[in-house]
Amino acid sequence: MTWRQRLVRYFRTCVNAESEVWDRPTRFFHWSITGLVVLALLTGWFDPAWQIDRHLMVGAMVTGLWMFRMLWGWVGGEYSRFSHYLHAPGVILADAAALWRGRLKLASLGLNPLNALVSLLLLLILGGLILTGLATYGGEEHLGPLATVVSYRMGQLAQEWHGHLSWTLIALALLHVLIIRRESSLTRISLMRSMITGCKPMDADQTDENARTANFSWAMIIGVVCIFAIDHASKTMQQIPMDGWRPLNYPRAYQEKCGQCHWTIHPSLLPEESWQPLLHNLEHHFGQRVTLSGKEAITIASFLLVHAAEDWNTDAAHRFRRVTPDPGQRLTEHPVWEKLHGKVDPTLFTTPPVSSRLNCPVCHHDALSGRFDKHAIHLPKPAAALPP
Ligand code: HEC
Ligand code: HEC
Repeated sequence: MTWRQRLVRYFRTCVNAESEVWDRPTRFFHWSITGLVVLALLTGWFDPAWQIDRHLMVGAMVTGLWMFRMLWGWVGGEYSRFSHYLHAPGVILADAAALWRGRLKLASLGLNPLNALVSLLLLLILGGLILTGLATYGGEEHLGPLATVVSYRMGQLAQEWHGHLSWTLIALALLHVLIIRRESSLTRISLMRSMITGCKPMDADQTDENARTANFSWAMIIGVVCIFAIDHASKTMQQIPMDGWRPLNYPRAYQEKCGQCHWTIHPSLLPEESWQPLLHNLEHHFGQRVTLSGKEAITIASFLLVHAAEDWNTDAAHRFRRVTPDPGQRLTEHPVWEKLHGKVDPTLFTTPPVSSRLNCPVCHHDALSGRFDKHAIHLPKPAAALPP
């Protein structure tokens, strides 16, 4: 057989002795969710913080597809319905044993009982990943639909679970593939092909006479609703103001005096107990002598102390107020700061346009507001190496 004939044979439509068990919407869901989950894992693991948008976009598409599948499980084609997914424990165990001992001779028209359970769990875990993802975004970044209901701590917890669930998903997906390979080899039916063409050979005593066929109008309606819902939700999400943050007017004395040698550091970046010793020690301020009039000193001190990290519910304030080992410690030597910037090319901090670790606004375009949102990170191009 030439490769062309092979290809045609592989992708042919169902012949007489075959039943179309997987309707088109289900097949579309299956392969697109597979691709998107791989993308979600890759962007989740490897994308740097400032590219969070890509992960969020994949997440939104996964959510749309997931919603579609949840509804399709009630109104879709016969074998896509959840009523075919739940079996008594005894049936599942018998199926597992038959697979294990190699005694399985006949594949179910839909999913085999064990794999049906695994598939259902995969959908459930996916739902958990969507929920914990939104909770992380809401709790830690104070953005998204859960911004006002999830606390910072809960957001951190959700992030941990987001990680655990992703590993669970990988384990289950591997199990899913293993079962399919085993089933395919025992029954000599390519289940992979059947998820591509939808066709599965029927045995003499199998019948699909009562099988409900997929209603494509339903698929269209649900599909359009899901797309609209996701699109609408993500557009509204972008308009919801960030929770835990408020605009702040920098007093003139602060801008004029403290903005002389470095940027006017947002008060939320240090806790009160770190601002205090710094303000008492302006005579010896990192090798500089800063002199303030009595009025200026009061204005600046009250501004910084009233709006210190304790008073904010932003990601940056939470991170840097985590009790520092030493209250007088510099922000840019704070272990959390060092960890956050550990992966940034160190020469960026010493060469123009940044020149100093303290020059936050060059990379964080929202630094003046104190938000330090992931979306606002833009790394400048490093200055070209100077000729010797
Ligand atoms: C005469 C110049 C000068 C003035 C005025 C000045 N600073 Fe500084 N400040 C410095 C220098 C130099 C450093 C060390 C920066 C470095 O090493 O990159 C520093 C560091 C700091 C740091 C520590 C940042 C870190 O890296 O952890 C804080 C906080 C700070 N200044 C706050 C203030 C405040 C508040 C005022 C106004 C009362 C002020 N500074 C005014 C020169 C100045
Ligand atoms: C040379 C550019 C650069 C400078 C300067 C810089 N940062 Fe960053 N910052 C980054 C990058 C890049 C990340 C993302 C790191 C990652 O997670 O991959 C980041 C992450 C952060 C985050 C976490 C954001 C989040 O939601 O994950 C905070 C908070 C932060 N920086 C605060 C500061 C502060 C405060 C300063 C100034 C004292 C500062 N940064 C200076 C580049 C910079």
